Amino acid sequence: MKAYIETYGCQMNVNDTEVIFAILEKAGYGRTEKMEEADLILANTCSIRDNAEQRIWGRIEVFQQQRKARPGVLVGIVGCMAERLKDKLLDTRKVDLVVGPDAYRSLPRLLAAITPDQPQMDVLLSRDETYADITPVRTDKNGLSAFISIMRGCNNVCSYCVVPYTRGAERSRDAHSIVREACDVYQKGYKEVTLLGQNVDSYLWKSETETVNFAGLLARVAAIAPDLRVRFATSHPKDISDEVIETMAAHENICKHIHLPVQSGSTRLLEKMRRKYSREWYLERVAKIRSLIPDCGLTTDVIAGFCSETLEDHQDTLSLMEEVGFDWAFMFAYSDRPGTLANRTMADDVPAAEKNRRLNEIIELQNRKSLERYRAQIGKQVQVLVEGPSKRNPAQLCGRASNNMMCVFPAGKLKVGDYATVTVVDCTSATLICE
Ligand code: 5AD
Ligand code: SF4
Repeated sequence: MKAYIETYGCQMNVNDTEVIFAILEKAGYGRTEKMEEADLILANTCSIRDNAEQRIWGRIEVFQQQRKARPGVLVGIVGCMAERLKDKLLDTRKVDLVVGPDAYRSLPRLLAAITPDQPQMDVLLSRDETYADITPVRTDKNGLSAFISIMRGCNNVCSYCVVPYTRGAERSRDAHSIVREACDVYQKGYKEVTLLGQNVDSYLWKSETETVNFAGLLARVAAIAPDLRVRFATSHPKDISDEVIETMAAHENICKHIHLPVQSGSTRLLEKMRRKYSREWYLERVAKIRSLIPDCGLTTDVIAGFCSETLEDHQDTLSLMEEVGFDWAFMFAYSDRPGTLANRTMADDVPAAEKNRRLNEIIELQNRKSLERYRAQIGKQVQVLVEGPSKRNPAQLCGRASNNMMCVFPAGKLKVGDYATVTVVDCTSATLICE
């Protein structure tokens, strides 16, 4: 039997899919990348914005055609949207299975219990599930870069965000199991691990004899091997400590890139968003990062048109982006999510057209900044980890610099998994062209 899984949303979901494949193996399912030959079709879903969910409703229709054309094929929705919509998904009669992010261990039992008129559901959230003992089935294409979840859930309750409701409370995974998993992938030839959590800076694991915080965990993973690159996401401006920044600076193999979502440049709005930091605090953290790691790559997330956002608030966001000069940003129009604090207590009062106008201003500014930041690299030497052929020009190779910028360069004698030092000679706003 074969399982096919489509993954939406964040990198944590990519890793969850790998955990699901590992659990499905126990139920006798191998992995396929072709929906047409699958006995089980799953979508690992995202609820973060309304358009993410709309896309998945479209996919359910496509899966439905498979279910009709090939009797016996099972269709399931797992992940954040399963958690959020629960019976609403089952009521459509278009799915056989609905499983939330903390219930993947019950997949074999649920699959065995499905009958044509008896779909199955488990959306219980857990206080302690971290899937620590499960070795994910790696789904990356080149055996080079592995995602490792270090924690699950989120305790922050940002007022716009569904994640605390779809993924439950925050819990940190056993530090030893994380180090073991990183060692294991290194021995299998991987050259890069990315430690994942909604808020990695609040990672905290205690046993009877030791306490490990995120800086401590980073140091342990970095110590595995000098040629194993360590990345992480996502950082939270309120929690990123000097110790974390110092640990990054102290280890050559911890990549110099921080994804530090700002969301807004207006302190008034940050308060409404319950981000627990001010514009000044954010700028101070950036200054600290740049003083200890001058060449640190910095990326962010920004939301346009959150509840009550005025033109002045919007200008604050633009001016913060101008001041910081991010390498890259993920930029979104605010999307009202049912059940969130904002949804329950604030008016979604910026008209859609105005949200989009502000978003476009933000995007335009960021495109200009990205080009500036990439241009500033021209003439520098950077170390890249060779990932494979460049998408645009297969005669060239591509790979990321420590600061996460994508580089393309002539193949020479290089092969996938090699480290190379290249010189930046030109750029676009998203790629460094190197020799
Ligand atoms: N509307 C728009 N963007 C959102 N994000 C989270 N919730 C919402 C929402 N309701 C964005 C934030 C977050 C990223 C993962 O998604 O910028 O950092
Ligand atoms: Fe989407 Fe957030 Fe769930 Fe990731 S955690 S899949 S971004 S809703």
